[in-house]
Amino acid sequence: MTDASNTAQLTINGKSYDLPVLSPTAGPDVLDIRKLYAQAGVFTYDPGYTSTASCDSTITFIDGDEGVLLHRGYPIGQLAEKSHYLEVCYLLLYGELPTASALEDFEDRVTRHTMVHEQMHNFFRGFRRDAHPMATMVGVVGAMSAFYADSADVNDPWQREVASIRMIAKLPTIAAMAYKYSIGQPFVYPRNDLDYASNFLNMCFSVPAENYQVDPILSRAMDRIFTLHADHEQNASTSTVRLASSSGANPFACIAAGIACLWGPAHGGANQACLEMLKEIGTVDRIPEFIARAKDKDDPFRLMGFGHRVYKNFDPRATVMKQSADEVLDLLGIEDNPILQVAKELEKQALDDPYFAEKKLFPNVDFYSGIILEAMGFPTSMFTPIFALSRTVGWISQWKEQFSDPAHKIGRPRQLYRGETQRDYVDVENR
Ligand code: CMC
Repeated sequence: MTDASNTAQLTINGKSYDLPVLSPTAGPDVLDIRKLYAQAGVFTYDPGYTSTASCDSTITFIDGDEGVLLHRGYPIGQLAEKSHYLEVCYLLLYGELPTASALEDFEDRVTRHTMVHEQMHNFFRGFRRDAHPMATMVGVVGAMSAFYADSADVNDPWQREVASIRMIAKLPTIAAMAYKYSIGQPFVYPRNDLDYASNFLNMCFSVPAENYQVDPILSRAMDRIFTLHADHEQNASTSTVRLASSSGANPFACIAAGIACLWGPAHGGANQACLEMLKEIGTVDRIPEFIARAKDKDDPFRLMGFGHRVYKNFDPRATVMKQSADEVLDLLGIEDNPILQVAKELEKQALDDPYFAEKKLFPNVDFYSGIILEAMGFPTSMFTPIFALSRTVGWISQWKEQFSDPAHKIGRPRQLYRGETQRDYVDVENR
């Protein structure tokens, strides 16, 4: 990785330091500052990690200027069109597309872990019915650490493998249970004769009282949503999982930490916030008012589903998602959906506006996903849990990679301290 002939020079107070320059296979060069403090006695300052690589990874690559997203080198558009979620899971976890028999074996292993411990049903019943399903998921996924202690030794590669399969298999079950619990319906057990996406739809929408047939086109749309959310490099929730697990913490608890981070409206919570915003706008004639608010520095309002830390051209996931929205609404016979009209017109007006052009703000993956999910029958509160279950494989792949990295160590950022320097305690009567 290090090209010794390629170094950068840093001069501090007249003294020069050589910083090795690491060459990636794609993306900008990376200055290696690991020895900077030891050699020069200074820290670097980078809130939000806008210029800092926190790890060495081979899983996902994003070129934000070109709107490129690659998983193990394969473009997301090709994967969304030609592959399917469990194959992408295999690719992310193991680095290569599976052979037919490896895929069959992987699908079999995932399918045989879809049930959750029966005792977990009681755990769900401790929550209020009106709890947000993300709140329930944070709790229940964290509680997996109490139910599956036999796969929690992170130093044992076999246990790491079992924990990985368990999470990919059980997250849809847990998300569906969180939904069923919130609407007061009985939990639906997983069905191993159904594919991953169809099984999730069945667990969400079937009831014991009548037959439910999963529509294959909806199942395909569901699978595509899972695929488009599978991984996304070192985003906030993935970095949370990496940081939490850097101490050797329980894997299920670390994924719960990722879910907690994802819930925020600046991250995975944006899909719920976006649909709520589109509904609040309601009609096309109100769009200028909301665009004006988004541009107003004194108004905290932002266009949800717009902007991205890395994508500064377009979000390739949004392109596929927009096409899927048209297909799903067409399939369901939902013509002239007013929310879709508002979304399309809002996108057009924002893209024509110099404010959004100058700041390179484009629709992101969350802009259209909510429209599809709502058309499929999901309430807005389920949008982020669906993102969470899709992203679980990304979190786990990055978590596994971290353990095989020889440079891996506990995460421990430094700080720019600007508080008081040492001073003496003053007794309360003298303050
Ligand atoms: N509406 C209006 N202005 C915006 C928006 C927006 N959605 N996003 C960014 N800006 C402005 C922001 O006010 C700032 O202006 P200025 O330079 O004048 O202060 C400038 O653009 C840069 O914004 P930033 O907050 O410094 O950029 P960031 O890279 O830290 O934030 C973001 C990225 C995604 C958090 C932000 O664009 C945002 O809050 N978007 C809305 C929430 C959203 O859709 N999130 C989903 C992200 S994609 C799914 C995922 O990864 O979870």
